[in-house]
Amino acid sequence: MHKDVERILYTEEELRRRVKELGAQITTDYAGRRPILASVLRGSYIFMADLTRAIDLDVTVDFMAVSSYGAGTVSSGQVEIKKDLSDTIEGRDLIIVEDILDSGNTLYYLMDVLRARRPASIRICALMDKPERRTKPITADYVGFTIPDAFIVGYGLDYAERYRNLPYVGVLKPSVYEK
Ligand code: PRP
Repeated sequence: MHKDVERILYTEEELRRRVKELGAQITTDYAGRRPILASVLRGSYIFMADLTRAIDLDVTVDFMAVSSYGAGTVSSGQVEIKKDLSDTIEGRDLIIVEDILDSGNTLYYLMDVLRARRPASIRICALMDKPERRTKPITADYVGFTIPDAFIVGYGLDYAERYRNLPYVGVLKPSVYEK
């Protein structure tokens, strides 16, 4: 696994520090409230686990899985809900937890679906943001790192379902996906 990584973008320590800051910010912003943190699987599973532990509030957690068609490095624009949230969100404060905001297709679609369920509020917390790739008008309310358009893996992020368990975020060697 490690040999396929060209360079480390964020070390374990840098990730830990930034996730703690995001958790502290959310704790301040939602003081006295009980938000639902909704993780969009699979990429956000590690971030979700660390973020929720960095939030000192009476939160609940929920999970959904979506897939955009096509398994390559570019998402196709079509989104399908594979697993829906377990709880109702009507009247609740919802925070969507994503590993990466790229074209914006996934969240553009999801925001529409979730808004229709009439939560009290919705915010997006994305660990990574690639604003230069955006094709849909979506911005995250909380962003861990704004990153350039490189193919990154680790800390939950995959290439063809591999590398999610790397403890750091690294740039994948082009030779791996150009094969
Ligand atoms: C990734 C990521 C987001 C989406 C972002 O998911 O977790 O959901 O792509 O890209 P977009 O802004 O261009 O829509 P992916 O489809 O790779 O699935 P995964 O979470 O299972 O890795």
